[in-house]
Amino acid sequence: MKLWQGRFDAPEAADADAFNESLSFDKKLWRADITASVAHATMLGTCGILTEEEADTICAGLKGIYADIERGTLPIEGQEDIHSFVEGELVARIGQTGKKLHTARSRNDQVATDLRLYARDAADSAMALLKALISALLVRAKESVKYVMPGFTHLRKAQPINCAQYFNAYSEMFLRDLDRYAALRKRMNVMPLGSAALAGTSWPIDRDVTRRLLGFDSISQNAPDAVSDRDFVAEYLFNASLVMAHLSRLCEDTILYTSDEFGYWEIPDAYSTGSSIMPQKKNPDIPELVRGKTGRVYGHLMGVLTMLKGIPLAYDKDLQEDKEPFFDAQTTMESCLSIYTALVSKLTFNVNKMYDAAGEGYATATDVADYLAKRGVPFRDAHAVTGKIVRYCIEHQKTLPALTLEEFRAVSPVFEADILQAVTTRASAEGRNSVGGSSTEAAKAGILSLKRRLKQY
Ligand code: ARG
Repeated sequence: MKLWQGRFDAPEAADADAFNESLSFDKKLWRADITASVAHATMLGTCGILTEEEADTICAGLKGIYADIERGTLPIEGQEDIHSFVEGELVARIGQTGKKLHTARSRNDQVATDLRLYARDAADSAMALLKALISALLVRAKESVKYVMPGFTHLRKAQPINCAQYFNAYSEMFLRDLDRYAALRKRMNVMPLGSAALAGTSWPIDRDVTRRLLGFDSISQNAPDAVSDRDFVAEYLFNASLVMAHLSRLCEDTILYTSDEFGYWEIPDAYSTGSSIMPQKKNPDIPELVRGKTGRVYGHLMGVLTMLKGIPLAYDKDLQEDKEPFFDAQTTMESCLSIYTALVSKLTFNVNKMYDAAGEGYATATDVADYLAKRGVPFRDAHAVTGKIVRYCIEHQKTLPALTLEEFRAVSPVFEADILQAVTTRASAEGRNSVGGSSTEAAKAGILSLKRRLKQY
């Protein structure tokens, strides 16, 4: 029997019912739904809309349902949605009094409240997972601050960087993601309950009682907006999309750097997979899958934004389509964050290969130009002179550190003996001591700064 059957002569057709139902996915909201209902019933009792005894009976019934679902003895099935299920079960357990629970409430403010409670937990959980990932990256940064690796632009060797500087780059991205979830959690912590269907209610409710019971910071100030606002779902999905964008970049680096061609890092066997035909293969399936799942999360963001577009004020059933994308994006992002936290912690480094590679490709050419510029040659001219030296190296198949002082001086008399030290990979990395730079000192400061900022969450 539907909650709304009274107005209808005939029962809903089976196919219409199957199409309309949301229980198969909104059952995930059972905790939030019961928690919000207990708060609502308590408030109805406090305000004298229900007698204290009625409110107590309802709350006890609801808590019994909660316990039974938790225990696994009460399967969630047989109703249109989670709200109908909980109410139906309550009436089955406590009888007529149960039918009073829905006083001064609509499923519209109910589902909006349930989803906010759920999303608040989802934001907390995203924050915890991001914190764990950043902590893992910081461990790797601390261990590798003594190592130098190639830094790329356009995927061409650019300048040597500090290994910790590399990991800190990703920590910075994930820290911004963490901050976005913290901001979302704060912004969305507004309670829609008490808005009823869309216009408010004639019952003398006290919304502040339910607000306090449910831990919301404030109550919504406009009922039609409150029942149809799903901005927080879109924001959650946008935040998740950026998390996935950042993860997919880290995945791409992992796939490249662990290839035979690069060989900087190794993924341990326990986190690699083989091929069914090529016995020699060790494949990076995990980073590839995380990279691939990014598309799915972006898709959910686009799906929800498109669903929200143009729905007339206030509640429309379109909004039921907010849940599956949200839930799937959450499961996807959370699993990607946990698996990558594990994988990052277990990567091994081929230190010598990284160091040697960092010096290839004339990666210290900027240091040659800076050397000249620091001795009075205008940077543009220094750049041109260095370009000539690089061309000389290419023609004679030499690296910059392999050049003799005579070869340098043949191009410019400004060079002195100390140029030979200045073009080494280590000196190049250590020379960049600006904030955020590649020197050991700057990379260590980067770690400290990240740790300090991470503590705020
Ligand atoms: N399953 C519905 C949803 O998720 C619950 C709200 C139903 N409200 C209504 N007016 N039909 O949006």
